[in-house]
Amino acid sequence: MQKLLIIGFVLGSVTVASFSCEQARIEESLAIQSGAVLQAAPSDNALVDIMRGLETDLAEIAHGLWTQERQTVKAAAMRIAEHPKVTPDQLAAIKEELGSEMGSFAQFDGIVHNTSIELAEAVDADMDIPELFEIYHRIEVGCISCHATFQTRVSDMLAATKSGS
Ligand code: HEC
Repeated sequence: MQKLLIIGFVLGSVTVASFSCEQARIEESLAIQSGAVLQAAPSDNALVDIMRGLETDLAEIAHGLWTQERQTVKAAAMRIAEHPKVTPDQLAAIKEELGSEMGSFAQFDGIVHNTSIELAEAVDADMDIPELFEIYHRIEVGCISCHATFQTRVSDMLAATKSGS
C-alpha cells in the first residue's frame, strides 16, 4: 500500500513537472517572438524608420525573385508581414490627424501585411517564380496606394509635431 502511494506521488509529480515545463516553453517562445520584433527595430520605431526597413525588405524580395532564391523571398516577405510597430506617440498623432480616415490607413497596412503572408505561403506551396512575382507586385501596389493618399500628409504632420509647431 505504501509502495503504491509512493508510485502515485512520483507519477503525479512527473505530470505536474512536465506541465509546468510546457508552460515555461510556451512563455519562452513568446518572449523570443517579441524579442525578435524589438531586435528588428533597434531605432525608436519611428514610422520613417519602419518604412526604410520595408523598402529594404521589398528590394530583398525582388533580389530573391531574380536569383530564384526562394527562401530569401520568404524570409523578406515575413519581415514585411511582421514589421515593427510605430511608437505609441506617433500612432496617437496619426490617429488624431486622420480621424475617420484611420480605417483606410489601417486597411492599406492590412493589405501589405496579408499579401506578404500570401507570398511567404506561396513559396512554401512551391509556386513558380512568375506567380510569386505577381504576388510581390500586389505588395508594391499596397505600398504605393497608401503613399498616394497619406505619405505627404502624415510626413508633414509628423515633422511639424517633431519641431513642436
Ligand atoms: C498604411 C500606409 C503605408 C503603407 C502600407 C506603406 N507606407 Fe511607406 N510611408 C507611409 C507614410 C505615412 C510615410 C511618411 C513617413 C514620414 O515621413 O514620417 C511613408 C514613407 C515611406 C518611405 C520614405 C521614407 C523616407 O526616408 O522618407 C519609404 C521608402 C516607404 N514608405 C516604403 C514603403 C514600402 C516599401 C511599403 C510597402 C512594403 C510601404 N512604404 C507601405 C505610409 C505607408
